[in-house]
Amino acid sequence: MKNLNPAPGDLEPIEKASVDELRALQLERMKWSLRHAYDNVAHYRASFEAAGVHPDDLRELSDLSRFPFVTKGELRESYPFGMVAVPRRQLARVHASSGTTGQPTVVAYTQGDLDVWSDVMARSIRASGGRRGDMIHVAYGYGLFTGGLGAHGGAERLGCTVVPVSGGQTERQVRLINDLEPDIIMVTPSYMLAIVDEMERQGVDPAATSLKVGIFGAEPWTDAMRAEMEQRLDMHAVDVYGLSEVMGPGVANECVETKDGLHVWEDHFYPEVVDPDTGELLPEGEEGELVFTSLTKEALPVIRYRTRDLTRLMPGTARAMRRMEKVTGRCDDMMILRGVNVFPTQIEEQILAVPALSPHFQCVLVRTGRMDEMVVRVERRHDATTADGGAGGKTLGTLVKRHAGVSVTVEVVEPETVERSAGKMNRVLDQRGASA
Ligand code: DLL
Repeated sequence: MKNLNPAPGDLEPIEKASVDELRALQLERMKWSLRHAYDNVAHYRASFEAAGVHPDDLRELSDLSRFPFVTKGELRESYPFGMVAVPRRQLARVHASSGTTGQPTVVAYTQGDLDVWSDVMARSIRASGGRRGDMIHVAYGYGLFTGGLGAHGGAERLGCTVVPVSGGQTERQVRLINDLEPDIIMVTPSYMLAIVDEMERQGVDPAATSLKVGIFGAEPWTDAMRAEMEQRLDMHAVDVYGLSEVMGPGVANECVETKDGLHVWEDHFYPEVVDPDTGELLPEGEEGELVFTSLTKEALPVIRYRTRDLTRLMPGTARAMRRMEKVTGRCDDMMILRGVNVFPTQIEEQILAVPALSPHFQCVLVRTGRMDEMVVRVERRHDATTADGGAGGKTLGTLVKRHAGVSVTVEVVEPETVERSAGKMNRVLDQRGASA
């Protein structure tokens, strides 16, 4: 892989703090955050009272588990500003989460919140290998989606040169990468694939571009996809996680030197993992639903926010702050086939093990009789023959059965026929209603 900028990245003091120092800071901030939510947001006051708890009941961090959760549904019901804890005129910006159904969720920031966001995003870019002076091509969408402006603020804070391209116009993305020679690209992994295909179409060797690091997030992607991108682009592929309700991108990020899970920036966001069905707190290391409590947010404090994302927490390595494993998927993306739970990431992993198949795929759910079936629609690679593709499809069926425990129908299609997205890719196409 291309060499990274050798200049040392200066860690912030809290990134070098001990676990004990970090826990002390978290406790102090958590007390403030619970009190702030209780005093200024009617919903929290009511839900705390209904659960028989008061902010003063938090004496240690573990007391947090006595407080009630808040869900995306509740945030949505308070549309647009019902959960905001500061006067409307103190809001510096709003974004909206990329809800696929109905009512959007508006999220709000004070100037102080935007500053913290830029700080944690700058920290994320630095952990990914970025340094002051690097040029960063931002291909996350700009607008209500938090990706573009979130990445932008962090890149500027770190002292980088930002190229605010936003998503779409893939031909132009390739041209700008060629002409401007950025060091880093920030984009969804699925859109990166579309950009790489476009490079090849234009006769540009993806491994020969100036790009040294890709900071990919906003949707689940696997280590198999990392290997594919690192090999095709000859650069590091690093995972960034975040969500609008908690802030935006930059809640957690991998360190490029370890790539062993994402360090949660725990001085601002306190993580827990709970059983998605019972809500019971799970011990470190067990997989479940990720829950966040904001520790410093002013405009939209979230107390025990259920993310619907599945992962597990692990002790820190490159930093003392805990790591979360790459997100396997969202509870909402889980497909149940004859009683077996399957996520699109499990399919992605197997597809990437078959040389004739490209990573462009969708899982189509159909209903035959009373049974749900999954059709994996996947493109053959440009350089694979139709016969190779067909054989690859058979292999994929066997691999999915072996590793995910379900039988699926594989449909190998021609290159460029699976939908492309310039942002988050929708991997699951539910056609069960249509065929019922
Ligand atoms: O996707 C924020 C973001 C932008 C993160 C750019 C990273 C890069 P939302 O639109 O609110 O915010 O969607 C949040 O996206 O709950 C996860 O389900 C998913 N997600 C975000 N990052 C990752 C990731 C942005 N690295 C939802 N891996 C989250 C897996 C991710 N899923």
